[in-house]
Amino acid sequence: MRTVHTLKELRAMLRSYRQQGKRIGLVPTMGNLHEGHISLVRKAREAADIVVTSIFVNPMQFGATEDLDTYPRTLIEDQERLEAAGSTLVFAPSNEEIYPEGLARHTRITVPEVSEGHCGASRPGHFEGVATVVTMLFNMVQPDIAVFGEKDYQQLAVIRKLTQDLMIPVEVIGSPTVREEDGLAKSSRNGFLTEAERTIAPAVYQTLKDTAEQIQEGRTDFTVLSQEANNVLSKAGLRPDYFNIANSLTLKPASADDTELTLLVAAFLGTTRLIDNLSITR
Ligand code: PAF
Repeated sequence: MRTVHTLKELRAMLRSYRQQGKRIGLVPTMGNLHEGHISLVRKAREAADIVVTSIFVNPMQFGATEDLDTYPRTLIEDQERLEAAGSTLVFAPSNEEIYPEGLARHTRITVPEVSEGHCGASRPGHFEGVATVVTMLFNMVQPDIAVFGEKDYQQLAVIRKLTQDLMIPVEVIGSPTVREEDGLAKSSRNGFLTEAERTIAPAVYQTLKDTAEQIQEGRTDFTVLSQEANNVLSKAGLRPDYFNIANSLTLKPASADDTELTLLVAAFLGTTRLIDNLSITR
């Protein structure tokens, strides 16, 4: 497995794979890889001959008060894990390589509607940053397929929409959330949790499951259900950002006739923001 840091090196490597008729897969990441990311690489391997894993902590998707500076950067360990998982190539560019003129002067991609609400409402500019860097990665790598985790449900919806609207010839594949034994979704940010916070964290997934069960039993008073879920999270010691019940496709608030629903949650434990979701069919 090779690691390249520049677009020039990346293009040279990919040119030779393409000449050999290889199918190229992309797994975009911000590094600090865990089992969840590794499952994306394995999925990409099933659908492509060559897997490019990008590692780039994208400053454009972090707000001014967010954890860009403390976001864990663990390239050596990531390379070892990626080699074992079967990644062919790692693309780990610098900020200067991606944004040579700086963030303020860079073109941005805005995806309407699905970017709004949920994390889009709490983190202004976040999905613009994600959409911009993912579009650039698609242009840089020109993959046949790209794999993203369903844990970031809204992000996946944003990426599907931009791919469709901008007619980018890449198949976007979603991969199921990988969880700890107690249900907590694997995340690079779990490492920020103190021992005490870690014991509280499974309440996020438990609340999603309990709320989904009530919907399956026939409740359609979604606003009340969301409020109840927020109360449960608060009682457990979390600080809920939102708990929303949405139409799985549009991500707009669910109505009583919707059959495909997604429950989306974001909540703080101390300074760590956890997100999770659960989709159900009624
Ligand atoms: O999900 C992530 O790790 C990031 O948002 C992504 C897709 C790599 C874009 O920076």
